[in-house]
Amino acid sequence: MRGKPIAVSSIMVAAALAASGCSVSDNNPNLIAGKQLFVSKCGSCHTLARAGSKGNVGPNLDEAFQRAKVDGLGDDAIRGVVKKQIEYPSRPGYAGQGIMPAKLVTGDDAANIAAYVAASVGKKGQDTGLLATAVKAPGSGKPAVAAGGVLKIDADPSGQLAYTETKASAPAGPITIELDNTSGVPHNIAIAGVGKSPVIPKGKSVFKATLKPGTYTYFCEVPGHEAAGMKGTLTVK
Ligand code: HEC
Repeated sequence: MRGKPIAVSSIMVAAALAASGCSVSDNNPNLIAGKQLFVSKCGSCHTLARAGSKGNVGPNLDEAFQRAKVDGLGDDAIRGVVKKQIEYPSRPGYAGQGIMPAKLVTGDDAANIAAYVAASVGKKGQDTGLLATAVKAPGSGKPAVAAGGVLKIDADPSGQLAYTETKASAPAGPITIELDNTSGVPHNIAIAGVGKSPVIPKGKSVFKATLKPGTYTYFCEVPGHEAAGMKGTLTVK
């Protein structure tokens, strides 16, 4: 069911409205915190254009709410649907049931995410002002250079599907390639024909290899991550 749009049902909406308990953030949401949390907790599974997220495990949220918007559903109702989904993700009988963990966030965090999603779904263009800089652009780190037989490459710490470094260089010969992942999103690092490290959600993931001169692509093997941009170029001299 990867990335398929699913219409948000009016039953869900009604249920969400009936159950909406209000917290401070419902009335005065912090959209910047909402965007940062969305990227770190939700973006690896969901595409949302405004957040720059490209996950494809769950539905594309711009598409999922398109129908609802056409039907005249306002921001408040969409916020209710998103909060409800965070609390009770799995819809019985649905193909993707059980994949989205329940209560990834709660309270104000959930309210802030819901407000950001409602303000963003289906919107053309880019976030402006403080929202534009709330999440650092992926891949903006300095090129990685091997030192002392180790090449260190980081997974984007904010949860975006990217490495911090999109370019790396190393001398030919034996090397340890070390991915540091602080994001909580499962990742690894692999080079076709050379080797790969284990997929882990947090910590250091390492493999040893012997490099020959040439140009290689390093990438994350978790489905969808390379396609979303989690890759870079390694030059070996
Ligand atoms: C591990 C992957 C994963 C993560 C992380 C995740 N989701 Fe989901 N999400 C899914 C899947 C799969 C579905 C479809 C099945 C379902 O409804 O449980 C889904 C469904 C949804 C829907 C319903 C869309 C529709 O078509 O009706 C919304 C809204 C949603 N997610 C929002 C979020 C938010 C907000 C977060 C972060 C707090 C989040 N998701 C985190 C995988 C994920």
